[in-house]
Amino acid sequence: MSVNIKFEPAGITGVVAEGTYLWDAAKRIGLRLPAECGGRGECDTCAVLIEKGTTLLSSLTNAERVRLSPERLAAGERLACQAKILYGGDIEVRPVPVTERAETTAETVSDFRSDFKSLPLKKKLATLVELEAHTMIETLNTVVEVPVSMGEKFMNMMARKGRAMSKHDRDEHRPAEHREEDAVSPEEKES
Ligand code: FES
Repeated sequence: MSVNIKFEPAGITGVVAEGTYLWDAAKRIGLRLPAECGGRGECDTCAVLIEKGTTLLSSLTNAERVRLSPERLAAGERLACQAKILYGGDIEVRPVPVTERAETTAETVSDFRSDFKSLPLKKKLATLVELEAHTMIETLNTVVEVPVSMGEKFMNMMARKGRAMSKHDRDEHRPAEHREEDAVSPEEKES
């Protein structure tokens, strides 16, 4: 049975197959949802509000329970990279605005601060060195002047590599709960 999916507020609609993750469904019908962690369930940038069709989706994964507060779960939010469409029917989804997610980011920063305070001195130093290294790499990436043609070649190469890896990566990053389910053959499910 097909799945009719609609993304608000843009009103983009399309038909996708059962077994599709919401994030992939959005992409398939031309809407690119953010995915800071690459679909590993380690951020909340792909959070969406399910306005219709909740019962057509897979159960909450552990990642969703960790990343979304009880209030957000109660409001009907899901992580698009974790929620798989199990049954055909009508689904309506609304990406969660960045302003609402900012609260979670602020919470994360405050968690980091309190975690950092409780670290022993040696670990604190190691964390600071690591952060410094990240900052340096980002700065270098910004200031180094790369000739345009080289930059384009590099971008094309990365795009090709990205396309080849994306399917493999997506499969790798599937929620553990679903990997276990997928490992069970249909015959085993029936028995
Ligand atoms: S992309 Fe990070 S949790 Fe979905």
